[in-house]
Amino acid sequence: ALALASAVIPQAMAAKPLVIGFSQVGAESEWRTANTASIKDSAKKEGVTLKFADAQQRQENQVKAIRSFIAQRVDLIAFSPVVESGWDTVLREAKAAKIPVILTDRSVNVSDPSLYATLIGSDFVEEGRKAGRWLLDYAKKNGDKPLNIVELQGTVGSAPAIDRKAGFEEIIKANPKLKVVRTQTGDFTRTKGKEVMEAFLKSMGKSINVLYAHNDDMAIGAIQAIEEAGLKPGKDIIIVSIDGVKGAFQAMIAGKLNVTVECSPLLGPQLMEAARKVVEGKPVDKRIVVNESVFPADVAAKELPNRKY
Ligand code: AHR
Repeated sequence: ALALASAVIPQAMAAKPLVIGFSQVGAESEWRTANTASIKDSAKKEGVTLKFADAQQRQENQVKAIRSFIAQRVDLIAFSPVVESGWDTVLREAKAAKIPVILTDRSVNVSDPSLYATLIGSDFVEEGRKAGRWLLDYAKKNGDKPLNIVELQGTVGSAPAIDRKAGFEEIIKANPKLKVVRTQTGDFTRTKGKEVMEAFLKSMGKSINVLYAHNDDMAIGAIQAIEEAGLKPGKDIIIVSIDGVKGAFQAMIAGKLNVTVECSPLLGPQLMEAARKVVEGKPVDKRIVVNESVFPADVAAKELPNRKY
């Protein structure tokens, strides 16, 4: 009986698993799929109970999910906000219920910064700057000719779309020969990227020299549109994009994409670590940034085997 008791007691006394409610943006890109996998895998590895909700790129779905996590009394809420604004009310509700919140990947615009504990994610302005620096350099090496740039923006109102646009513009204004002649959202998806690129090609034709896409998926969609228009992506139109997903490396190896700026989706381990600290009342940095690189086409074949997403 004693042996039985000692086998049973540790189980009975075992700490209750941490419960995290996570509201994801959607499944709009290769990046997002890898981000979801990283969060789910890390939760499993850390023994965290993850309540996962996919918002299908709609803010109202995220608000509903957050309210449902509050009603279920989870230990912590984490979410990657579809857009930056409109979060004050629901985050105040979480605060009133004493449920801490962690932002992953994207930031929010709130009047009270205490509404969230930390933001774990990339510096999107810097990613835009990196894309701009690559293009400045390309322009210099290529005889400093005037370049007409078309831009495929991410989801309207989202932090990466706002910041990547701003960072890129900040850098390219150093060369007045670089001009953004068309800019439109492609909502971070391949389908929309292709559709919008088709429209750009219809109105501007061969006068487009450069495509700046806020993510690889839109660039990959646009590559299709460029080929269907009888032009050579990566040659007739130089393509600069962001994320560094495997699909981008394959496109670079095929000579169809010129450079991708890395944005790591592998945020799961950092989220689990920060969540535990926050729930235990330990201090965490208000901003946790991820280290990232730039991959031009000439290193793509060497780097592809090392890519984790
Ligand atoms: O918020 C990160 C961005 O969202 C990624 O660049 C993009 O691919 C995703 O959909």
